[in-house]
Amino acid sequence: MRIRTAVPEDAAEVVALRALVHPYLVRGVESTRHMIAHPPPGEDWAAWVAELDGRVVGWASAYRNSQTSEPNFGEISLPHVHPEHRGRGGGTALFTAALAHLRAIGARRVLTWAQPEALPFARRHGFAPSRELRYSALDLRPTPPMPQPPPGVRLLSAAEVGPRLLHRLDAEAARDEPGDAPVDAMSYDSWQYEVWQNPGLDREASTLAEADGTPVALSLVKRDGDRMWSEFTGTLSTHRRRGFAGLVKRAALHRAAARGVRTAYTSNDGANAPMLAVNARLGYRPVASQWTCLRTLT
Ligand SMILES: CC(C)(COP(=O)(O)OP(=O)(O)OC[C@H]1O[C@@H](n2cnc3c(N)ncnc32)[C@H](O)[C@@H]1OP(=O)(O)O)[C@@H](O)C(=O)NCCC(=O)NCCS
Repeated sequence: MRIRTAVPEDAAEVVALRALVHPYLVRGVESTRHMIAHPPPGEDWAAWVAELDGRVVGWASAYRNSQTSEPNFGEISLPHVHPEHRGRGGGTALFTAALAHLRAIGARRVLTWAQPEALPFARRHGFAPSRELRYSALDLRPTPPMPQPPPGVRLLSAAEVGPRLLHRLDAEAARDEPGDAPVDAMSYDSWQYEVWQNPGLDREASTLAEADGTPVALSLVKRDGDRMWSEFTGTLSTHRRRGFAGLVKRAALHRAAARGVRTAYTSNDGANAPMLAVNARLGYRPVASQWTCLRTLT
């Protein structure tokens, strides 16, 4: 098994492998190719594949988290190896490459994600489990109805609203999302990359709610064919517990389904009680869980 830097031409095989190991994730070939060819700016992003007989059988990426104020917070995203090729050192080699890269860019604290069965592997590499991340799915057949907004509330698509407003709302609401590092430094440039310019963003299905002329909640949709990922749903802290998240996510799901999406996926921190409540009410069913795992680099 050979570890090498990922190239854009790997995208189709990387997506096929991810579909096998993490079928509840949604990132298409075009979006993956774009990420490898044009990595997010300012993150020192790098990715590796494990190759066996010319086929991609493993993947890991590593970068600096640019959306938190915590300095030098590194991440190793979704390291995984094909189930038939485990136990042959591929995972360790990918991790070693990723950790060497994070050391070189000055990372101090490092986060990675592990399926429950991979926790012993993470522990062997010096990581301690921290938070549970719950993945869930919702069948969008038949198309769920479009909700009726209460008086004074308007539902607008992301395309109608434009990026500046959406970014402001996203960055503001995300500050309260529970996690290992605060999401409190989401610059317009990094948001443009991750969201607005992302090839997977569905600007017609992504929805914003305005109450008495003020933007108060949003739900972002990324899609790959007939599958979608809820990138983020958030409500301004001043307007929570009034049904806005449920309303805006319901509208986004309706629009996505009307545009051909059949299954919706989402993930939530296990301690995010309000978002888990919203999703339970929408009918999402749990499909998988992962743990964030942390270690410090010396
Ligand atoms: C999660 C969030 C979007 C919810 O927004 P909201 O507009 O208050 O949501 P709604 O009013 O539509 O629904 C909230 C639901 O959570 C429930 N809830 C609120 N606080 C709760 C708590 N502490 N424990 C359990 N349930 C809670 C409410 O009862 C309601 O459920 P119900 O409709 O079954 O009664 C909002 O808290 C937020 O923006 N948080 C920060 C960003 C974030 O974490 N986003 C999710 C990323 S995955």
